[in-house]
Amino acid sequence: MKNPTYNYILSKIGTFRPDIGIILGSGLGYFADHNIQNQIKIPYNEIPEFPESTVPGHAGNLIFGTVGDRKILCMQGRLHLYEGYSAYEVTLPIRIARHLGISTLFITNAAGGIRYGMAPGDLMFIEDHINFLGDNPLIGQNNSSGSDRFPDMTAIYDRDLIRLGQKIGYEYDITTTTGIYLATKGPSFETPAEIRVFKVIGADAVGMSTVPEAIVGKQQGMRICGISCISNLAAGISPNPLSHEEVNETVKLVKKQFATLLKELILKL
Ligand code: HPA
Repeated sequence: MKNPTYNYILSKIGTFRPDIGIILGSGLGYFADHNIQNQIKIPYNEIPEFPESTVPGHAGNLIFGTVGDRKILCMQGRLHLYEGYSAYEVTLPIRIARHLGISTLFITNAAGGIRYGMAPGDLMFIEDHINFLGDNPLIGQNNSSGSDRFPDMTAIYDRDLIRLGQKIGYEYDITTTTGIYLATKGPSFETPAEIRVFKVIGADAVGMSTVPEAIVGKQQGMRICGISCISNLAAGISPNPLSHEEVNETVKLVKKQFATLLKELILKL
């Protein structure tokens, strides 16, 4: 791959080649600060032609390093469609990650809980998703050469990784659940009427990310594990008005359990 973004990253990492990718969602940057050793940190705004992260709670660093003996590339802060980026731009880091050798991708996010019984702080393994973005990162000429034009999306989220995550949760006394993640473009939260519709069509949680990265990751042949931190109950279910502050506050409360779950998954996969 010859482009300025890729070349700049190579100039920073030398011969280091990670094979596990992590995208950290809202408020989940803690994991990178406390669990990745031997860090090479590259702020997005230093990387040529790389989109910048503009959202509070999303630091905006590519971090290369190790977790135990595993070699990691971590996006501390992600890009969203609501920041004005195209679905292609949002997934540029995934395409670059693939070229660097990433074969397993952990995608994390904060999400609103829809299913009855969910509570803020729950950690949900994504079993499948509903793309409600009205967009797709594979539209247009950007389809990487040699990649499938019509990739199958039957089993995006790796069953074995979900099972392993559930087992780790059990061992470490971290409650986990599984469910269907629905992505909207945002940035406004949903209306209660929209949430009722999403519930009827099978969504357990709602958020504004993850789906573009998962589609590209699957097309590129990666094993994908999606984890949602339920940061609030969705609109109309929550007794309170929704806010980004509440999202970040709740995520803070479970960041340690979340970090343990992710770290153990990485070490045991
Ligand atoms: N809706 C959409 N995105 C979100 C939510 C929500 O309730 N919570 C965190 N991200």
